[in-house]
Amino acid sequence: MQPILLMILILGSTLFHISTARKNVLFILADDMRPEIAALRDNDSPSQMHDKMYTPHLDAFTEHSAVFRRAYVQQAICGPSRASFMTGRRPDTTRVYNLQDYFRRVGGNFSTIPQYFKERGYRTLGMGKIFHSGQSAGGNNDAPSWSSDETFFHSPSRRGYWNPIKKEHSWYSINTTLEREHPIGDQEVTDHAISVLQRLAPKAISGEENFFMAVGFYLPHLPFIFPERFLQYYPISDIKQPSNPYAPLNMPDYAWHSNGELLNGYGDIKSLNISGAPNTTWPSQLVLDLRRAYYASISYVDSLFGQIMTELDNLGLRNDTIVMFGSDHGWQLYEHTAWCKHTNFELATRTPLMFRAPGLTDQGIMSDHLVEYVDIYSTLVELADLPAAPLCPENPAAIQECTEGTSLVPIMKNSSLPGKPRVFMQYPRYRQFGRVMGYSMRTDKYRYTEWVRFNETGFGPDWTAQEAVELYDHTNDQEENVNRANDAEYASIVEQLKGHLHEGWRPVAN
Ligand SMILES: *[C@@H]1O[C@H](CO)[C@@H](O)[C@H](O)[C@H]1NC(C)=O
Ligand SMILES: *[C@@H]1O[C@H](CO)[C@@H](O)[C@H](O)[C@H]1NC(C)=O
Ligand SMILES: *[C@@H]1O[C@H](CO)[C@@H](O)[C@H](O)[C@H]1NC(C)=O
Ligand SMILES: *[C@@H]1O[C@H](CO)[C@@H](O)[C@H](O)[C@H]1NC(C)=O
Ligand SMILES: *[C@@H]1O[C@H](CO)[C@@H](O)[C@H](O)[C@H]1NC(C)=O
Ligand SMILES: *[C@@H]1O[C@H](CO)[C@@H](O)[C@H](O)[C@H]1NC(C)=O
Ligand SMILES: *[C@@H]1O[C@H](CO)[C@@H](O)[C@H](O)[C@H]1NC(C)=O
Repeated sequence: MQPILLMILILGSTLFHISTARKNVLFILADDMRPEIAALRDNDSPSQMHDKMYTPHLDAFTEHSAVFRRAYVQQAICGPSRASFMTGRRPDTTRVYNLQDYFRRVGGNFSTIPQYFKERGYRTLGMGKIFHSGQSAGGNNDAPSWSSDETFFHSPSRRGYWNPIKKEHSWYSINTTLEREHPIGDQEVTDHAISVLQRLAPKAISGEENFFMAVGFYLPHLPFIFPERFLQYYPISDIKQPSNPYAPLNMPDYAWHSNGELLNGYGDIKSLNISGAPNTTWPSQLVLDLRRAYYASISYVDSLFGQIMTELDNLGLRNDTIVMFGSDHGWQLYEHTAWCKHTNFELATRTPLMFRAPGLTDQGIMSDHLVEYVDIYSTLVELADLPAAPLCPENPAAIQECTEGTSLVPIMKNSSLPGKPRVFMQYPRYRQFGRVMGYSMRTDKYRYTEWVRFNETGFGPDWTAQEAVELYDHTNDQEENVNRANDAEYASIVEQLKGHLHEGWRPVAN
């Protein structure tokens, strides 16, 4: 900064008590977390949400945050979703559709959210699960995102837990003895976050250096391993079977995935030799146990989130720090007889998203606007008063700084603004003849999906080669149990939605 400008700023702030301090950013992600937060329940919540969640810290956080109850990711699997929202670009631009590809290699050398802050003077650092790890993050946790004198932190127990338990158990509640001998990875990430906040606080408070700190929990990803004290909030008698343990009527085969992550990953499930086909009946007690363990894992994440929030308060950083909480996608808990993510259904694509921005969201804002994870990039940039990144043009592979999302700050400031009329997500399936992509769109009332051949040259849909279509009417079928795409009475709706899907996101990016 120019000395003269600095002087004017200092003078301005002392004379007129204007706070010129830049805000820090604390960017917190859970993994595989659908919006199972007690304070998020309302009439429009997916009906399958548990009605007795124990999430006191996230509940308290919502009271001073902008909460987006209808937030959707762009692809319901970890690596592609994270590559998309971290770069503010959609999967057909990052070209990351799987867990191996690295956006800088297959899409372009795009700036990420932390990188954008780093290049504007922030100290940026990360810990836990932020990008999908390994080669899909360049083998170095995407080094350009982080300040070069910071080391990316992974918990010593790495993904979740101690191997002998993690490999054999899809879920496990551990006692305090075991927890002491083998700490849970997310607690290690939390302890690290707290010590780093203590280190960064003095310079952040004096205004010498702001931080962008990314904290990624591994839970409630499988295996559901949590301290057993969290089971007390979930007596087994409170746990229900899903209301729709069957695949949708007229569901095309493309919409289905085979539950492989759960079926093949853990000894206790493997030994049961359960089929991955739709409408497979799972042992009833196992369904209840897994649902309960998922909820308990969320309560555990809630408690760790609370530890970090408490430290932020204790260090006096709260008023100077923007806090975001989100996840990479939702999860299916045997609804439709599906588990995990890997689909375009509501439960897989919808996930929590909230921002606590001091001075803007202090009174709490509950928004039912349709929003997308690709919007996070420009939202954080605007909340921090950094210069906005422009909207990407067509074919933005060579442009380092641009975004395919829209800042949510205007709808935080004025909830009467309409926001986007529709949001977009996609999921690929592989067949012998090649790749088929399910392009899906959520409007206020409908979910509409076309499964089409993928144009491997243009990295986009070939709308002329349609394989299957789905339409779910959320007015009378919130659970997406009946595919109406071929119902005569929906023909004109299908026509209209088809037009909007084929136009894509660009006409509604305001
Ligand atoms: C990608 O961008 C980073 C940050 O701007 C730069 O340091 C690096 O050299 C670029 N890599 C390539 C291959 O262009
Ligand atoms: C704690 O759990 C371990 C592993 O399940 C078990 O071997 C041990 O007996 C338990 N200890 C107590 C005090 O319950
Ligand atoms: C699954 O069961 C539902 C409800 O009985 C039925 O409507 C649907 O056609 C079945 N789907 C498949 C793929 O078997
Ligand atoms: C697993 O189930 C399939 C049928 O679903 C059966 O063919 C196979 O023999 C079973 N394998 C074992 C090890 O039980
Ligand atoms: C933080 O901001 C709130 C609301 O503006 C104010 O009441 C509180 O005193 C501030 N706390 C500190 C530590 O500055
Ligand atoms: C909020 O948005 C509505 C709808 O566009 C508009 O009519 C109204 O004037 C806006 N309010 C403010 C305070 O800008
Ligand atoms: C596939 O993409 C290429 C390159 O963008 C384009 O020239 C071609 O027209 C596309 N084909 C179809 C069927 O959309």
